[in-house]
Amino acid sequence: MMKGVAIGIVLTLIVLAVGIYCYFATGMAPAATADSPMPFERKLAHIPLSAHIEKQQLGQPPMAADESAYLAGAEVYKQHCASCHGLPGRWPTDYATTMYPKPPQLFRGKGVTDDPVSESYWKSANGIRLTGMPAFKTKLTDTQLWQVSQLVAHANEISDSVKRVLVTDATTSTSMPRVSVPKVE
Ligand code: HEC
Repeated sequence: MMKGVAIGIVLTLIVLAVGIYCYFATGMAPAATADSPMPFERKLAHIPLSAHIEKQQLGQPPMAADESAYLAGAEVYKQHCASCHGLPGRWPTDYATTMYPKPPQLFRGKGVTDDPVSESYWKSANGIRLTGMPAFKTKLTDTQLWQVSQLVAHANEISDSVKRVLVTDATTSTSMPRVSVPKVE
């Protein structure tokens, strides 16, 4: 009896493994950015990421969430982040609409205003594997990383002067082709 159950379990595991292999090897799994997600894809990507960030136990930001942090963060953001994550009152760029996963628009809806600042800091510093989110720790100073994280964590409460800095002369990162950002009326 026990032997039969054991054989059954082993056979099921083999069938499952072959099934999963065929799903990937025969081209059934999504590969293009426009394909629909694989079953459980987002969950599988986000559970280890959240667990990893939590394990790092990042402390509190070294500066207050105030106007000067937001203004400095805005300078960083418009140069390094806006091409993917968008600007207040502007349509998402071509990048944002044709990538997978799509970069969340950080000045639309809740963005990352419900995440701890330290989580956005970790993601900005280290990037997110298997997505288009780059790591900025070799491009920006630690202070700049915290300033831009304070900005996106409080994207829903920034003043008009910070918004003005964000959208004035907003081009995109020098390392990227210029993309058009039509104004939303
Ligand atoms: C080339 C495009 C690109 C650039 C440039 C970029 N990001 Fe991202 N970013 C992404 C993508 C794509 C994701 C979504 C990853 C995912 O779904 O897990 C992301 C995710 C994030 C997240 C997590 C969002 C969430 O909902 O948890 C934060 C925070 C973030 N980026 C901040 C930044 C900051 C700050 C900058 C600039 C210093 C920046 N990003 C520049 C593509 C980009």
